[in-house]
Amino acid sequence: MSAIDVTWVRRQFPALDQKAKGRPVVFFDGPGGTQVPQRVIDAMVDYLATSNANTHGEFATSTRTDEMIASARAAMADLLGCDCDEVVFGANMTSLTFAMSRAIGRELKQGDEIVVTLLDHDANYAPWQALAERGVVVRAVGVNVADCTLDMDDLRCKIGPATRVVAVGYASNAVGTINDVAEVCRLAHGVGAMCYVDAVHYAPHGPIDVRALDCDFMVCSPYKFFGPHAGVLYGKREHLARLRPCKVRPAPDEAPDCWEAGTQNHEGIAGVAAAINYLAELGARSAGTGKAPTSRREALLLAMSAIREYESQLAARLIHGLLAIPGLTVYGITDAKRARWRTPTISVRITGHSPRELSRSLAGRGIFAWDGNYYAINLTDLLGVEDTGGMLRIGLVHYNTAEEVDRLLAALGEIVSP
Ligand SMILES: Cc1ncc(COP(=O)(O)O)c(C=O)c1O
Repeated sequence: MSAIDVTWVRRQFPALDQKAKGRPVVFFDGPGGTQVPQRVIDAMVDYLATSNANTHGEFATSTRTDEMIASARAAMADLLGCDCDEVVFGANMTSLTFAMSRAIGRELKQGDEIVVTLLDHDANYAPWQALAERGVVVRAVGVNVADCTLDMDDLRCKIGPATRVVAVGYASNAVGTINDVAEVCRLAHGVGAMCYVDAVHYAPHGPIDVRALDCDFMVCSPYKFFGPHAGVLYGKREHLARLRPCKVRPAPDEAPDCWEAGTQNHEGIAGVAAAINYLAELGARSAGTGKAPTSRREALLLAMSAIREYESQLAARLIHGLLAIPGLTVYGITDAKRARWRTPTISVRITGHSPRELSRSLAGRGIFAWDGNYYAINLTDLLGVEDTGGMLRIGLVHYNTAEEVDRLLAALGEIVSP
C-alpha cells in the first residue's frame, strides 16, 4: 500500500480534469514541465491582487513583496536542506547557470579545467563550454550507452589537479538515470574543485539534501516540481559571498540578492512557496498515524520519499509493459534491481515508427508525451538517434496512476499492431 493518496493528489490539480474526446487527458509530459495545484494558481493571483510592487519600498505592497520573497526563500531552503541566504531566484535554470558560469569564469585562468558530462541537458554543458573561449579546458565524461549510465571510470580519469569545477546532472531528463552525485562531489573535492549539480530533472522525484551531498551549487526549476516558471540556485554561502556576479551598480552587493539580476517574477516566486507547501501537506498526509512531522523540512522529506516509492511502482509497471511491445527499445536502466538509480522517465523507440509520429498518435488518444532530444543533445548523438527524431519520452510524476500507464500501454499496442 503506497503512502500517497492519489485521489487527494489529483483533486489538487485542476488541469487533470481536462478531457480529450470525452476521456481524461493523460499528462506524461512532466519532465518538460508539470501541472500545478490550485493553491499555486491562487497564490499567484493573490500576490497580483494584493501585493504587486517592487522590493524594498516604504509602503504596504512593497513590504508584503519583501515578506513574500523571504518566505519563499525559506520554503526553498526547506526543500533543499540549506539556509535561506543560500537560495537565489532567477528566470530559469539556464539563465542562472550562464550567470554562475560567467562569475566562476572570472576566477579561472588559462589551462584550468572544467569537467562536464555527455549525459547532461545542454544547460549544464553549454554554459561551461562557453568558458573555453577564455582558455579553460572543458573535458566531457562519457556514457555507458548500453544502460545510459555515467561512465564513472572515465569521470575519475577526467578529474585531475587542474580541475576547478565538475558540472553533473542529478538525474538525466532524457533517460531518467540518477547519478551518484555524492560520489561525484567527493571526487571533485578530492582535487579542490567545486561541484555544480543540475537537479532540474531529479527535483520532483526524490528527497534532496544539499548538505549531505556536500555539493557547492545546485540548480532546479520549480515548473518541473508543480510550481510556476522560475529557476532556483543553491550556492554554499562562502561561494555566493566570494564570487562576483555581473550586476548593475545600484543593486544590493550582498548575497543572495546580488545574484538576482533585475526585477524577479514575484508572482512566480509566490507560486513557488505554494508548490512547496503543497508538497509539505502531502508529506504530512503520508506520515503514519502518530508520526506527524515536526517541521516543514521533515514533511517535505516524507513527501519526497513517498513520491519516490509510489513512482517506482508505476515505473516498474510501465517498463514491464513496454518491454512486451514488439520492436520497442527502452533506453536506460530496465533492471528492477537497479530501480533506485532511475526516475520514472522512460524513453523509447519503436521500429518503423518515428518518435514524432508516436507522440502525435498518442496525442490523438489524449495522451501527452514529448518526442525529440529534450536538449540532451550529446546523449541523443551518442545513442545514434539524433538524426531520426530522438526518442519518445514517457515521464511519470506522482499525480499519474496505474490506469494511465495501462492506457498508454494499450494505445502503443494499438499503434504497433493496428
Ligand atoms: C535536466 C535539465 N536541466 C536543465 C533544464 C533547463 O531548465 P530551464 O528550462 O529552467 O532553463 C532542463 C529543462 O528541461 C532539464 O530537464
